Amino acid sequence: LAGRALSTATARHNISHVTVIGGGLMGSGIAQVAAGSQHKVVLCDVSQDVLDKTINRIETSLGRVAKKKFADDANGAKDFIAATMDNLSTSTDAVKTIGDGTDLVVEAIKEDLDLKKKVFAEYDAVAKDHTIFASNTSSLSIGKIAEATQRKDRFGGLHFFNPVPVMKLVEVIRISETSDETFQALKSFGEAVGKHVVVCKDTPGFIVNRLLVPYLLEAARMVERGDATIEDVDAAMKLGAGYPMGPFQLLDYVGLDTTAFIAQGWAEDYPEEPLFKPVNVIAEKVKEGKLGNKSGQGFYDYSK
Ligand code: NAI
Repeated sequence: LAGRALSTATARHNISHVTVIGGGLMGSGIAQVAAGSQHKVVLCDVSQDVLDKTINRIETSLGRVAKKKFADDANGAKDFIAATMDNLSTSTDAVKTIGDGTDLVVEAIKEDLDLKKKVFAEYDAVAKDHTIFASNTSSLSIGKIAEATQRKDRFGGLHFFNPVPVMKLVEVIRISETSDETFQALKSFGEAVGKHVVVCKDTPGFIVNRLLVPYLLEAARMVERGDATIEDVDAAMKLGAGYPMGPFQLLDYVGLDTTAFIAQGWAEDYPEEPLFKPVNVIAEKVKEGKLGNKSGQGFYDYSK
């Protein structure tokens, strides 16, 4: 009996079929690393057009990964790309995919609490008992998202970083209801896709963004006060603190709208916390449509 109980637990830890929801920037990366590490992956999006483009993007990205991974082995690279693409399929019907049976659902749709709750409630109604749900949210509370389901014990956060195939970290978030079994399965999955796993409670921004966002806001406040210039703050943090990018380069890269949106959400939830207070210089740029690299202008000009 003990042996049987053990084997059931082990089987549950063994995530082999993964459903990724959202074929955007993050979902495509998560699908890629999961398929590249011998998981069967179905990537779901509402739009077939998005999925077609995403598959092409994944194939291009795999080419780059394979070139590095199999530097002197052209056949090895070819086989890796073929095997990964073979593990990957797409669907515009996430409810059916999940209903048919999957071990893990990783959600990477828009950062919108109501929308995330809505889709998880739909998936919860059809998913098999053993299926684990995870959200890749950067800034929302995992506990609040899990409220929409009857499986809080099989719910957690899997927070990857952009670009997923390159960035070595995943944060595994456990809410108070997350079972040990689910937690272990999420950690094992993070390791299986080749990431360094760190663990964090369900606290705003988890580890990385909880430190990074206030730092970015404080850099903007510093310039707003006229203490130093944008260029000097960036140079100082690169050359003096050894950061690969200065805070303004990073703000432009992440997107000023995204950073402002995250801070605003936290400020609403934690009005007493001075670190989360909005910053005028960022809000003004967002109003002018200067969102960073993606709009051609942010704190720096990328239009040329
Ligand atoms: P994105 O906008 O690139 O992609 C979202 C995708 O979800 C779109 O393709 C959209 O068509 C699809 N989608 C929307 N509703 C859907 C639904 N009901 N069912 C299936 N697909 C649906 O967004 P991105 O940047 O990939 O972000 C996704 C999530 O990952 C957000 O929660 C974000 O906070 C988080 N995140 C983002 C990071 C980043 O650097 N962009 C880093 C880490 C986490």
